[in-house]
Amino acid sequence: MEYIKHAMIATWKMSLDGMHQAYEDLFVKDDRKAALLTAITDVENNPDYHYVGYGGFPNACGIVETDASYMDGNTMQFGAVAGLRDIASPIAVAMELSGKTKDCFLCGEGAKQYAVEHGFESKEMLSNYACQQYKQHRKSIMEHDTVCMIAKDSVGLSCGVSTSGLPFKHPGRVGDSPVIGSGFYCDSLVGSAAATGNGEDVMRGCLSFSVVSFIKAGMDVQKACETALFEHLDRLKTAGYKAGDISLIAMDRYGRCGVATDMKQFPFVMMDDKHPDASVYVCRNENGTMHIQKADEQWLSSWQGD
Ligand code: GLY
Repeated sequence: MEYIKHAMIATWKMSLDGMHQAYEDLFVKDDRKAALLTAITDVENNPDYHYVGYGGFPNACGIVETDASYMDGNTMQFGAVAGLRDIASPIAVAMELSGKTKDCFLCGEGAKQYAVEHGFESKEMLSNYACQQYKQHRKSIMEHDTVCMIAKDSVGLSCGVSTSGLPFKHPGRVGDSPVIGSGFYCDSLVGSAAATGNGEDVMRGCLSFSVVSFIKAGMDVQKACETALFEHLDRLKTAGYKAGDISLIAMDRYGRCGVATDMKQFPFVMMDDKHPDASVYVCRNENGTMHIQKADEQWLSSWQGD
């Protein structure tokens, strides 16, 4: 069995720059948590990404509310925030909360109060561009892209997720991203998974936990992603419901990665000991069969999705 000491996988092309910045944390310092913090905060700070952190589209009242989570697969501790306002790095707060055994999942005013009291940077998260889009399009934009990342160092796995959620959502709406088992799950003895897509659809099941359970039952990580996703979609279809876009990333305890999507194509970023230069890959869904390829120059220049 091939054992990969260092590996990292992330949703969407927007993760590429942050993954490059996380190189030293992962490969030199052997610190998966630092790598996740570096890479996810890079996405949170970038105003060009409108579904995560600063520059994210606001809720129906014009206020950016963020959700984030972090889970350590060695200790099984997790931290999460939901409906967090005016704090620059939601993932940093979730990481700190993961060190607690009580009060590790905070929402709304309480989450903000905790962040302010513990010295996390306050910030107006609404960019001019997001504000303008809110004024012009608040009834029409529905898609969104959550940043999810899983990292493995020499001693275990962790995962982190951050999002500003559905554009123009009802104030207080929370998606799957801070919900353990649904938006993310991590167990270093087995593997880790995380979801991006319409949170209401993801939360009708425990998709991330399902992926990890299938790995535990002996499935390879790619098959586990596909099985979890398509069993979930089938179950919803049986219930008379057609789910929207959902994509999953996963990593097993050996550092091997899997991806599944119900979209036509879903880009993600990977790096590991053999391929330490983070690269974008595309998972193409052809009638339920996943085809994964490294993104070429033409694809990279034409992609407008995130
Ligand atoms: N998947 C993120 C959300 O629905 O908010």
